[in-house]
Amino acid sequence: MIIAGNWKMFRGPDPHALAGLDAIVAPPFTRLRDCVDAGLTTYAQNVHWEADGAYTGEISAPMLLELGVTGSLVGHSERRLYFGETDETVALRTRAALDAGLRVIACVGETLAEREANETEDVLRRQLSVLEPHPHLVLAYEPVWAIGTGLTATPEMAQDAHAFIKSLLDAPVLYGGSVKPDNAAGLLAQPDVDGALVGGASLDVDSFKAICQTAARIRS
Ligand code: PGA
Repeated sequence: MIIAGNWKMFRGPDPHALAGLDAIVAPPFTRLRDCVDAGLTTYAQNVHWEADGAYTGEISAPMLLELGVTGSLVGHSERRLYFGETDETVALRTRAALDAGLRVIACVGETLAEREANETEDVLRRQLSVLEPHPHLVLAYEPVWAIGTGLTATPEMAQDAHAFIKSLLDAPVLYGGSVKPDNAAGLLAQPDVDGALVGGASLDVDSFKAICQTAARIRS
């Protein structure tokens, strides 16, 4: 079971308050070193496919590794929605990061319009078609309509999507989208839900710890 906290563009909690927690944190770039120094398994939120070059605003895998960072998120829906991330750039970022020795959580998921048009499986198939299994690749199923909205997929919806994803690509699949202490147990109990990618609730130490404790209880 993997619990990962995506702090997005928020400063986030004091990393030392999370010391010893069996979880991944993905803080903004300026807090990566603090999280590494606090002994946390630390992921970036994005990584470029070149080792260096004229790519203003980007960061490379070797630079992250030099900092002691373990992995990176790739293809989060906010990157796809606001920053022009495409399936092709997701593939480039993922491959380069894995080749360099980083771990990757690659994010997939449909919008509300796509779900309502019955296109969820087509979208997942398209998003996954550019990725290949790798021992250090984990996927996150994040229905876009559930991110930051308070709407969560039901455990059954998550289970169905995760089983479909695993039929296409052999990798652990985390669920993301308004995971909170009070809905984590139902989601994490599903057989194909291998953990959670937590946004808002990861900014609050008590909420994030509660979700980690739920995961630990379900695993044992
Ligand atoms: P949320 O974010 O938990 O705030 O919905 C999840 C994510 O974007 O990874």
